[in-house]
Amino acid sequence: MTQDDTGPRGPLVRPRRLRRTPALRRMVAETSLEARQLVLPLFVREGLDEPRPVSTMPGVVQHTRDSLKAAAAEAAELGLGGVMLFGVPETKDAVGSGATDPAGVLNLAITDIVAEVGDQLTVMSDLCLDEFTDHGHCGLLTPDGEVDNDKTLAAYAAMALAQAEAGVDMVGPSGMMDGQVAVVRQALDAAEFSGVSVLAYSAKYASAFFGPFRAAVDSSLEGDRRTYQQDPANGVEGVREALLDVAEGADIVMVKPALGYLDVVRRVRDAVDVPVAAYNVSGEYAMVEAAAARGWIDREAAILETLTSIRRAGADVVLTYWASEVSRLLRR
Ligand code: PBG
Repeated sequence: MTQDDTGPRGPLVRPRRLRRTPALRRMVAETSLEARQLVLPLFVREGLDEPRPVSTMPGVVQHTRDSLKAAAAEAAELGLGGVMLFGVPETKDAVGSGATDPAGVLNLAITDIVAEVGDQLTVMSDLCLDEFTDHGHCGLLTPDGEVDNDKTLAAYAAMALAQAEAGVDMVGPSGMMDGQVAVVRQALDAAEFSGVSVLAYSAKYASAFFGPFRAAVDSSLEGDRRTYQQDPANGVEGVREALLDVAEGADIVMVKPALGYLDVVRRVRDAVDVPVAAYNVSGEYAMVEAAAARGWIDREAAILETLTSIRRAGADVVLTYWASEVSRLLRR
């Protein structure tokens, strides 16, 4: 029997039969969306008395240390996979001192959250200098203003140790320096933190879709990150980056952004034997929120379709600002 065969009453092969009832559709769905697969990115800002809305990301706030604990407790209660913490210091400098200071806002927040929900959630932290440097780059600069790969690696090793001392479960090196995973892994192992895992931002693109995030971390970046983040034109190179990171000891590899790069998610999923994460980034969030606010799109349906598509492309884990809300929706 072929697709073209027709009987007296029309086609014999009818894929629509499996779409006839909600029960049938549920039974044959190839992709699931579950709270445990979702990771909520959270921002904590030093020196706030109350949470401060992020203007470019309606519904997202910069947390105080207290409101951060409440958000993490809610994430745990909802059964999320984890939280990814970003710290915003009050003062920034050329070397990003706040990143390695044990009393820096991110390191304090890690300890708070591990104490609050560490046995129920995977507590992850962004391992990058851009939130802490006054020039806003992910690394240290040479005298003529270039991002210095190898000097930056030493700073990442120190940052990994500060986060591990604070109690983090998993660090997320996101600066796209060559060799960053190996250096972080070695530093952790040498300090007897071999149990701390590494989620590598492996295929991270120089993307306009990170734009709204800049307001969330009070970024002072001028210019762009094209000398270290990838060219959006390159897919093979994304796989190469992921394979390198696995060889360097990454426990999970990530593709970021997600939506414009679903082909890269699929290629990486097929190429590696570790879990693959994808980051549904600030610009992807902002587009749906902006269209929904104008009544141009069905917000909940668009969110669920977005996350399901990222999972279908091959992501085992999805970082999304909608994680808590979606987990609530999935319970209905
Ligand atoms: C770097 C980092 C960025 C994001 C996550 N980690 C910014 C950048 O690379 O420019 C972006 C996340 C988002 O857009 O939601 N610390």
